[in-house]
Amino acid sequence: MAEVVFENVTKIYAKGERPAVDSFSLTVRDGEFLVLVGPSGCGKSTTLRMVAGLETPDSGRISIAGADVTRLPPKDRDIAMVFQNYALYPHMTVRENLSFALKLRRVPKNEVRRRVEGVAESLGLVPYMDRLPKALSGGQRQRVALGRAIVREPSVFLFDEPLSNLDAKMRVEMRAEIIRLHNRLGATMIYVTHDQVEAMTMGERIVVMSGGRIRQAAPPMEIYSRPADVFVAGFIGTPPMNLFPPGVLSPSKTVGIRPENLSLLESRGGDGDGDVFPAKVDFIESLGSETLVHVLLEPSGFRAIIRESGFTRRRPGDKVFLFCGMANRVVFD
Ligand SMILES: Nc1ncnc2c1ncn2[C@@H]1O[C@H](COP(=O)(O)OP(=O)(O)O)[C@@H](O)[C@H]1O
Ligand SMILES: [Mg+2]
Repeated sequence: MAEVVFENVTKIYAKGERPAVDSFSLTVRDGEFLVLVGPSGCGKSTTLRMVAGLETPDSGRISIAGADVTRLPPKDRDIAMVFQNYALYPHMTVRENLSFALKLRRVPKNEVRRRVEGVAESLGLVPYMDRLPKALSGGQRQRVALGRAIVREPSVFLFDEPLSNLDAKMRVEMRAEIIRLHNRLGATMIYVTHDQVEAMTMGERIVVMSGGRIRQAAPPMEIYSRPADVFVAGFIGTPPMNLFPPGVLSPSKTVGIRPENLSLLESRGGDGDGDVFPAKVDFIESLGSETLVHVLLEPSGFRAIIRESGFTRRRPGDKVFLFCGMANRVVFD
């Protein structure tokens, strides 16, 4: 059971400064794929590095598989970490990069060969085993970095923005590869990203952080449909949830509605139970499969974004009516 448990973990880099990680408490379940997501500087890497043993908490406790590791050096933790910049040894071939950690651990030669070959096979690295990292593409380097983690057969994998240096196509491929790896190995994985699309598509559970704190920890669909606060509502989803300020849909509270749950009407005549506002089309973003229509409510000038499927017949300047149905509203205090 390689559960990872954080109990009130706090990290302060400089005296008098705000904690980088603030009273972080969470249980990552055995075999779970957990994604930590949040804007740059919110404390994701620090959290991960404390699991790896690369940073020490100022207070609180971290345990892996039931053992307190809070002050244990990295080599004594059953973890492997994959970084954004790959961190390969530049003077070693792919084979040597893959073997290195096992040799350090005095794993028998036959066993090293067996494991390295198995991993190279599964990641498509066999043709490149004698190359140096500089003779590989970004995607191939990231595969080697992944392979180097896998050969160690750790019970916990830690990923720190491992796909951020790859182009969009390679990123999508590697995402799928990491998910397949998780399905195959069933190891506990903690994956850090600032990219909410990566978080939504990869996480079994997502932890949204800001300012060193957990804002919400829940499965992707729950985060999407029931964000815990306006920060989460604004961070997850592209475009973000529309947030109607107090006075528009509720006398005293903010109301959030996703763009796909708003619609535009020709006339004030209702489309069921909800609120209708006159509005003017401001501009239109056509994405092919869907269209984002930006409208300004009249007379307030409040901006709302509506997601329509396919193409739209709306044009900038069109007078329309915005319909906000009663369903799918999220009310924030
Ligand atoms: N080694 C360090 N020394 C001082 N401050 C640091 C150090 N590493 C990170 N920080 C600060 O801690 C906060 C959290 O950083 P980090 O964990 O890297 O966030 P993220 O990975 O979410 O971008 C930031 O304000 C950052 O500037
Ligand atoms: Mg980081």
